Amino acid sequence: MSLHPMTRRLMAPDITAMKRVKPVISLTSYHAHTAAIADKYCDFLLVGDSLGMVMHGFETTVPVTLDMMIVHGRAVVRGAKRALVVIDMPFGTYEESPSVAFRNASRVMKETDCGAVKLEGGRRMAETTRYLVERGIPVMGHIGLTPQSINVIGGFKTQGRTHEEWIAIEEDARALAEAGAFAIVVEAVPAPLAARITDAIPVPTIGIGASSNCDGQILVMEDMLGLSPRVPKFVKKFGAIATAIEDAIKSYADDVRDRRFPAEEHSYGMKEEATGQLTVTPQATKKPKKLST
Ligand code: KIV
Repeated sequence: MSLHPMTRRLMAPDITAMKRVKPVISLTSYHAHTAAIADKYCDFLLVGDSLGMVMHGFETTVPVTLDMMIVHGRAVVRGAKRALVVIDMPFGTYEESPSVAFRNASRVMKETDCGAVKLEGGRRMAETTRYLVERGIPVMGHIGLTPQSINVIGGFKTQGRTHEEWIAIEEDARALAEAGAFAIVVEAVPAPLAARITDAIPVPTIGIGASSNCDGQILVMEDMLGLSPRVPKFVKKFGAIATAIEDAIKSYADDVRDRRFPAEEHSYGMKEEATGQLTVTPQATKKPKKLST
């Protein structure tokens, strides 16, 4: 007999069905506790390869490996019960050929139990997108600014500001939608281009730095929480977590220094009154009971 969970997790077609019905809400997430909180409000959580910068201190997403994505992906799937979990395929794991992409993406799906993967690139990724979708792997596209190509682009720059770039990005969106992508992240493009793409394709556009003219929005969670030291212009800070963390750590250090912490309520007492001198009795050598938290 199979066990059916109380809450069904959203799947890729559920996200597609939200187009022109309601905005798709999403955030990045890299670990279980924040995934559990975001799960209450988000339709999908993206285990983005931005974790290379946010969690591991890299300058770009280029050094991120498949194993890193799998470790963080597992944590997010464990933390989130309702949201679809999408995992980024990192640089170098899918561009070579559709079959290499399938081998790596199927490993991500099997080892994390996530519901979809995301690939960067437009027309050049259309064949691979179709190949994966036809073989059971839902694919989210990612066009406009594609951070894995930073070394070719020459910086985290807004895309689609010239007529030529505009046409190319619109063609990217159409090609991915035709190939079967269930949604497309559109990063760092001007508002009129985002509107044009959103109108042109039958699957949701998920904007990041792409205005409100998209079907949904995504932000890097640490950026919107106010934890990241530097954020792009398009980020609105909805919290001030860095200050809250620093205040708490400073109070802890002050309390330890001034011997205010740990106080009596944070310490364990004896079952019997202490005699002053500790003697090892046969009872004291018994296996200790599990400590209460
Ligand atoms: O890696 C990431 O966080 C992303 C988002 C910026 C969409 O791809």
